Amino acid sequence: MADDAAPPANQVPDVPILEALGNRRSIRYFDESREVERWKIEAILQAARFASCQGNINATEAIIVRRDECEHWDELEECVSGFNVQIINQASHLILWLTNVNAWYGRAVDGISSLSLSGAATKYHGWNYEFSMTQTIPRLMSFPPERTEILLRFETGQAVANAMAAGVGLGVGNILIAFGRKPGGIEKAFGLPPNYKFTWGHAVGYPLEDPKGGGQRPRLKFERLFHDNALGTPYECQPSTVELLREKGLIQEQAPLPGRFEEIVQIAESHGRDPGMLYFPAAEIRRLMADEDWDFGPNIRAKAEQVLADEDLPDYPQEMRDTFMRLAAEHGIDATKFLPKD
Ligand SMILES: Cc1cc2nc3c(=O)[nH]c(=O)nc-3n(C[C@H](O)[C@H](O)[C@H](O)COP(=O)(O)O)c2cc1C
Repeated sequence: MADDAAPPANQVPDVPILEALGNRRSIRYFDESREVERWKIEAILQAARFASCQGNINATEAIIVRRDECEHWDELEECVSGFNVQIINQASHLILWLTNVNAWYGRAVDGISSLSLSGAATKYHGWNYEFSMTQTIPRLMSFPPERTEILLRFETGQAVANAMAAGVGLGVGNILIAFGRKPGGIEKAFGLPPNYKFTWGHAVGYPLEDPKGGGQRPRLKFERLFHDNALGTPYECQPSTVELLREKGLIQEQAPLPGRFEEIVQIAESHGRDPGMLYFPAAEIRRLMADEDWDFGPNIRAKAEQVLADEDLPDYPQEMRDTFMRLAAEHGIDATKFLPKD
């Protein structure tokens, strides 16, 4: 069992928030020989507890699971998506984030009352007791559970993001884990009442890989994501802001950093796993690299060139074409750009 007690505060390095956010990576290779200290797990959960939550209703809960102690581990392992099994078995802890939909219906009064007593909700913004009790709270409580669930799952996402940022600040690796293999399996294994929604799994541990995961993963361009007063009008990020954020560590060198693929091969070989990489067809890689929406820097472009030149790449599976067109059409998306021209 790792150390239980928290060390003196002056022995814990402070990581500025922008740097912690920039350091975050989804960690997929954990050091199974290292257990995360209990105080760090507690700190991660505390960060979640203090995330913003609607009306202070505290709808986010979690079950903290350790492989060697949890009697439901085998059932849990059957629920996790196949590509996540290795991850949860190497992680130190698994946090199962839950959304308690009944918090909305059962804690609305106390949540707002606690805000009034703490000087957060006041008459300045139009709050008044009678209106709250006869109008606002009954209206909120009359939301159908499906709507409440959407609202509260967003809140759980907020809490999890806080938890992950705190983990990174304390040197702990994190990844969110899909449990799609057996829908309802987690709820059943843990006997969750229907108001408890299992929202997401979160593996925590010390990274075996470079904690920076071989560089920051690419995203779409800023101005493709953010809109200025109207959808479709790009909201630009000033170069001086980008420069500042590079210095503060929020924006970091893009993946893949030198040595990343060698590192993965070495980890795979030392664990008796397949050291191979996931490759897409040449036409797909060329199309992606030419896509103006993505913010691709020199590292990933150089990797794409190397893969195109050296690797034996797969063909696009023809049977995917119809399925892909149909699925995209169901959502009103023109899929032709994603398909090979021939
Ligand atoms: C809600 C959510 C679920 C995710 N589920 C998985 C997962 O099941 N397995 C996995 O390997 N990564 C999962 N990820 C991680 C994403 O693939 C990852 O965030 C993305 O590759 C970008 O990399 P980065 O997090 O290192 O920036 C998930 C991320 C989110 C936000």
